[in-house]
Order: sequence, then C-alpha cells, then structure tokens
Amino acid sequence: MSKLENAVPGYKHLIVEPYTPNIGALIHDLDLAKIQDEAVRAELRKALGEYQVLFFRRQQLTPEQQIDVARVFGDPDKTKAFFPRHDSVQSIELIETKPVGHRYGTDQWHADITFSANPPTGTVLYSHIIPAAGGDTLWSSGTAVYDSLPRALQLYLEELEAVHSFEHSGWPNYFAQLENGEEIYRKARADNLPVVHPVVQTHPVTGKKIVYVNPNFTDRIKGLSRQQSDALLTFLFAQFLRPEFQARLRWEANTVAIWDNRATVHYATADYGNQHRLLHRVTFGEDRAF
Ligand code: SIN
Repeated sequence: MSKLENAVPGYKHLIVEPYTPNIGALIHDLDLAKIQDEAVRAELRKALGEYQVLFFRRQQLTPEQQIDVARVFGDPDKTKAFFPRHDSVQSIELIETKPVGHRYGTDQWHADITFSANPPTGTVLYSHIIPAAGGDTLWSSGTAVYDSLPRALQLYLEELEAVHSFEHSGWPNYFAQLENGEEIYRKARADNLPVVHPVVQTHPVTGKKIVYVNPNFTDRIKGLSRQQSDALLTFLFAQFLRPEFQARLRWEANTVAIWDNRATVHYATADYGNQHRLLHRVTFGEDRAF
C-alpha cells in the first residue's frame, strides 16, 4: 500500500501515516524549512496532540531553522538540561556520543527534564550523524498506560504525587566524567532542588489523562514508605515497557522527531559501541506545562 493510501483523513495540508496504532505518525513530503503557512503549522500541532511523536525523513535544517520548527509548538528558550550547547545557537543542545569519551544516561526511560518544576512540553530532535546500525530511539505513551489500568487503580493514582530529581538519574555519573564535574554537580544541586508532580496529569490540549512518572527522574511517591513506593513505581514503569504502547525509530541522517514531552517517555538505545552519533536537540515549553 502506498503512503497516500495509508494517510489518515482529517488533514488538508499534511500526509499523516500512523506509525503504530497507539503512538507515532510519519509525516510525508513536508519540508520543515518551509512551514510558514499557519494552516500547516496548526495541523502540525493537531498531529502532535493526536499522535504524540511525529517523524519526518530527509530534512535539511540549519540550526536557526530547527529553532523555527520548535517555535511552531512553544518557546525554545524554556527549561534546558545539562547538555553542551551549539556554539552559535545556544537554544540547541548537542546530543553527541563520540568513539572515545563520555556517555549520557539517555538509555533510561524518561521524559525530558521532569526534575524541573516546569518541564518542557516537547522536543525537536534532528539527526546529523547516525551509526550504521543501532542508536534507535523508542517512545512510550503515558496516555496508553493510563487507559490500560483498571478504574480503581486510575482513581487511586490520581490522588498521588511523586518526587522527581536529577540526582536520581544518570546526570551525576556524567558529571563525574568531567574535569570540573564536582563544581558542575554542586551548582546543579543548588539550582535544581527536587520537585513534586502529580502521578496522573491531564494534558491541557487533548484533555487525556497521563501516567506521569519515569524511572530516570522519579525518585519516590509521597506519603508511601520507600518499600511501598518502590513497588508501585516498579509496577508503573513496567507498564511503559509494553511494546503495544511504543514506537521505535530507526534513525537515518537528516531525520527529525518531534515529541510531546507531557504525554510520552523515551529511551535512546546504547547498542552502538564506539560509533559516532550526533543529534541536535531543542526543547520547547510554555509558561506552565500543565
Ligand atoms: C533525549 O533523551 O532527549 C535524546 C534521545 C536520543 O538521543 O535519541
């Protein structure tokens, strides 16, 4: 079947092909460097709400054009993580693994920067150098997880709050690999005290309920003992592992992935040994994520 036969109705300006039944869509034949038309931009926002992660092949974007793409969805200068920044365009973070050198902890399920009080609402990731095989990224849907749970458990989870902290993640290990890591770590701790988020969030655009925890940054559930909290979080984290709720992207150079950081978690597979992998990342946000 051709991509046109697979395209869903309801879009006048985009060719949208679902990637899996529960999450993800491929957007065909769109040059992201040329999306000035507000009708196209509105359909991109609609598709992101509907599919949670969008993939675009064969893109050629300058750093400034990538920022412009992020602006379709939000403010590219909101919360940032600790990644190195692009030399001339500071809103771009460099996600780079070199043959020799440090590793980031992105091979853990996470939503970006939930250790912040106001995490990004989404991310634009653009591939530059991709291993011949490996380095795929997977996304899993927090709305699919919520919908799969029994009603009584949904209601119980809706009463809970969880503590999120960067210290729970791979970031301290990354800092330890840096020459001035101790100093960076001290500053990161002072600037990023643990924060509390509801365990179930309501998406402000789609109105859907989301299980909003992730193993990288969610440390514990408030009001439960450590043992109870660990048991409940282990159960919830396991729900995100169901392949039915996931989309897995095999990157090629010049691919763009845009995801809804409120509704999904993601995982960058670290299976490519000492090969080079380089992507440019822009997170975008709003004054309040929820
Ligand atoms: C990220 O976690 O934002 C980066 C994902 C990736 O490198 O594929």
